[in-house]
Formats: sequence, C-alpha cells, structure tokens
Amino acid sequence: MALFRLRLDKGNDMVRIALLTFLVLISVACSKSNPDSKISEIVVGEFSSLTGPQSSFGKSAHNGIKLAIEEINESGGVNGIPIKLVSIDTKGLAENSAQAVETLAKKNKALALIGEVASHRSLVAAQVAQQMSIPMITPTATAVSITNVGDYIFRACYIDPFQAKVMAKFALENLKVKKAAVLRDVKSEYSKGLAENFIEAFERGGGKVVAEDQFSSGDIGFTDQINHIRASKPDAIYIPGYYSEAGKIARQLRKMGVQATLLGSDGWDSEKLFKIGTVSVNGSYFTNHFSVQNTEEKSAEFVRKFREKYKSTPDGLAAMGYDTALLLAAALKKSSALDHKSIKEALAATDNFLGVTGKIQLDENRNAIKPIVIVKVDGPVNRFVTSMNPSDVPSAPLKEMTSASETPSLQ
Ligand code: PHE
Repeated sequence: MALFRLRLDKGNDMVRIALLTFLVLISVACSKSNPDSKISEIVVGEFSSLTGPQSSFGKSAHNGIKLAIEEINESGGVNGIPIKLVSIDTKGLAENSAQAVETLAKKNKALALIGEVASHRSLVAAQVAQQMSIPMITPTATAVSITNVGDYIFRACYIDPFQAKVMAKFALENLKVKKAAVLRDVKSEYSKGLAENFIEAFERGGGKVVAEDQFSSGDIGFTDQINHIRASKPDAIYIPGYYSEAGKIARQLRKMGVQATLLGSDGWDSEKLFKIGTVSVNGSYFTNHFSVQNTEEKSAEFVRKFREKYKSTPDGLAAMGYDTALLLAAALKKSSALDHKSIKEALAATDNFLGVTGKIQLDENRNAIKPIVIVKVDGPVNRFVTSMNPSDVPSAPLKEMTSASETPSLQ
C-alpha cells in the first residue's frame, strides 16, 4: 500500500512538474511578445471643458478622442492591451485643469494625458504634468509658451505665430487688405500672441495697422473700441480670440455701421459663433485645424464615421481630438516600455504621422509642423477657402517670400 501510494505521489509529482513547466513556458512566451503583460489596460487621462463657457470646445474634442479610442480598441488596442479613457471635466477653469492632472496621474495611474483644449488652462496643467513627469499632449492649445514648460509637454496642433502669419499673408495676398485694425483680448495669452504676430507679419508684408485696441474676455460692450476703430477706416479687422466675444463684437460692429472684413483665429470654431454673431459674422475668415470639405480619403472617412456615431458634423476640435488620440496610440505602440519616460521618448520620435487634419511632424520643441486651413463663415457652415503649409510662411519677410501675384496653394 505504502509502495503504491509512493508510486501514485510520484506520478502526481510528474504531472505537477510537467504542468508547472508548461505554465512557465507559456508565461515566458507571453512576456516575450508583450513585455508589459502585467498591464491589463492602458489608462489615458483626458481633461477638457466638458461644461462651462467653452463647453463646445471640450465636448467636440472629447467626441473625437472617444471615437479614436473605440477604433484603436476594436483593432486590438496597443499591442493587444486595450486603452481605458478616464475623462475629467475642467469646467473651463485653470485650477481644475491642474487638479485634473494630479488626479489622473496619482489616482487613476494614467500613463499619458490628453488636454487641455485651451491655451491658458493647458499652460497651468503643463506645469503640473512636467513636475510629475507624465507625458501630456494638448490637441488644440496653440500658445507658444505651453510646450516651453518642458520635455513632457507635447501638442498635436500648430502654434500661434504660424496661424497669425498665415492670416496676415492671406489678408495681404488674397483679400488685398491694405489697412487693418487689430482688436485683442488682453486677458488671454493666446489672443495677445496672435495679435503681436499678425501685426508684425502684416506690416512686414507691406500692410498698415491703422488701429489697435483691446477688450477683456467676458466684456459685453465694445462701443469705445468700435468708435476708435471706425475712425481709422480699416479694410479688415483682426479679432483673435474665442467665438463668444467674436460673435458679440461682430454684431456691435455691424450695428455701428462698420462693414470691414472680419478676420479671426481657431478659437472662432464653434457652431455657437453664428448663433451669437448671426449674419454679422457672415463673410468673415478664420484660420482653423480642419474643414469638413476636405476631400482627402482619410478625412472624408472620419467625417462619415463621426456623423454616423454622433449625428452631427465634426469641427476642428473633434478632428484634432481624434488625431491626438491616434498619435498617442501610435507612440504607445512604439514605446520601448509602458512607463512615462519611455512614452515621452516615443512621442518625441513622432515622425510623419498621417492624421485626418494632415501630416503631423513634431519639431524639437514638441510642436506640430502641419498644414493649416482658412475657412469663410457662411451661416452655420464654415466653407473651405484655402490651406497653407509651414513652408508658405517662413520667418523671412513675407514681401521677399513670394511675388505679389502668387496665391497660396489651393488644396
Ligand atoms: N487654440 C485655442 C487656444 O489655444 C483653442 C481652440 C482651438 C479653440 C481650436 C477652438 C478651436 O486657446
């Protein structure tokens, strides 16, 4: 009996050893194909203004991000690991953006962050992200200072000097504007940066800035500024800022008899621009990240999928949210390990990423080098007018860059 038991135990041991060896082999094989097999999901943190005064910015970007992440997960995630998106609403407040970074990093253990959509909130958030060494990529914050915070801070969009120079060139060459007025929001770094760059490029290109004035975000009356601008008889008025103020200013300008062409920046991109500005904003032009009239196959497919999912048309923020999530996923796939430092390095190595907003190249300051779109407001629709590439507006004086007869490439 004892002998029999011994034999049986021996037999069991053999089975056990074989089973153990098998399991070890399997786990070695798995860990070879996926060095981060202990991670069952990759947490990506998102923070944006889902409510508050600029809720249309945050909601649009959020919808684009969600669509992209769904697609990534449907096609196998990041080398087999699904992405889990954790979103925090900043309510349009800077302090909430800083807090969101901390929460997403510490509590949710996010491996990377997407946010914020606006410049001033992104700047505050970037300081926390850099300090915590967590990669942060903003889809749409264009003020130069953001990525200067440090090597963990990236953006998928172009920067303001580029969009301001493009508008100056477009005004001079396409619209033949000779005299321009500039009305800036002194509470906004974004607006101030755009105004300065526009003035510099417009005057360098041979135009004259005949009036400069200012307002503060949240203002409702602009009579003094409009009287001042009206007296200078400009052909066009550059109003860099957000749709909320741009819409109100446009109405008051028209009411006070000013018919000059209005020029704006990407912050005009909201369905609310026409709701606030009504017919007063018709015929205005602004620089943007995307146009639904882009006929490139990739862009058209995105518009189709977005419409199908949300029963609405994507704006520039939605397209940028989509591209940012895909760009981050591409970096996650290439990252040597799933830790903050490796992901930061993979993001920095982004090269010729083909998005729905165009080809994205990240420069040494982690800013995207990519094409820009100019649209014309036509009721609730923003019509594609032209697009330009960074090479169309080098830092050399505009006058020397192209002959006056040359028009920007129409794509
Ligand atoms: N570029 C704006 C900023 O930096 C944000 C924005 C982008 C708003 C695109 C609307 C559309 O604050």
